[in-house]
Amino acid sequence: MASNPILENIYARRSVRSFEDRPVREEDINELIKAGFHAANGLNLQKLRFSVVTSRTKLNEYSATGKRTFLEYMAANDMTNPHLESNLRNDGFDIFYGAPAAIFIYAAPGIMTATEDASLAAGNIMLAAASMGLGTCWIGFAYHLGSDKVFLKDNKVPEGHKLLAAIILGYPKNKDQMATPRERPHILNWVR
Ligand SMILES: Cc1cc2nc3c(=O)[nH]c(=O)nc-3n(C[C@H](O)[C@H](O)[C@H](O)COP(=O)(O)O)c2cc1C
Repeated sequence: MASNPILENIYARRSVRSFEDRPVREEDINELIKAGFHAANGLNLQKLRFSVVTSRTKLNEYSATGKRTFLEYMAANDMTNPHLESNLRNDGFDIFYGAPAAIFIYAAPGIMTATEDASLAAGNIMLAAASMGLGTCWIGFAYHLGSDKVFLKDNKVPEGHKLLAAIILGYPKNKDQMATPRERPHILNWVR
């Protein structure tokens, strides 16, 4: 059983897809980015970069672009998933779930561990947010915004930087929702 606040926070975190209509304080967002940047990173190159979007108008625009670019990517790679595609074709579906903020994580050129670094930073951000009463969700549907000129320009993303993660952020509407259940971990073997 969890017996310290860190473990309790890990087990209570869940993806949040419905938010109160109130902004997240800028100092809290800065704290979360700091927590993300404090994650372990390959060779301690510290090459992750972040951008923040709190404009609802822009998030709506990016949701539409995210859906379009994701569908284009699927078509170009012969990927089919009827459920996913029907969501992505639904004009009423907001990939950011009406969140008041999103943090985007990029890798600057020249890191060999870009995906690992960004994923660890995202994990830190989600756990730190949970500890502050904030809800988060990683938005994979946003991946291909990283190749959209408007998004890159708005977010002042330098040439060669790769978008690796998008985390939405806000105060959960339903505070009592339980964490998403997990199976028991599959430990293949324990070689002693
Ligand atoms: C790489 C990655 C991409 C994800 N993309 C999405 C997404 O686009 N939309 C969404 O609603 N949830 C997304 N999720 C959230 C997962 O669905 C969620 O983490 C999973 O169902 C487990 O639930 P939990 O986070 O509440 O424990 C993503 C999670 C990860 C790690």
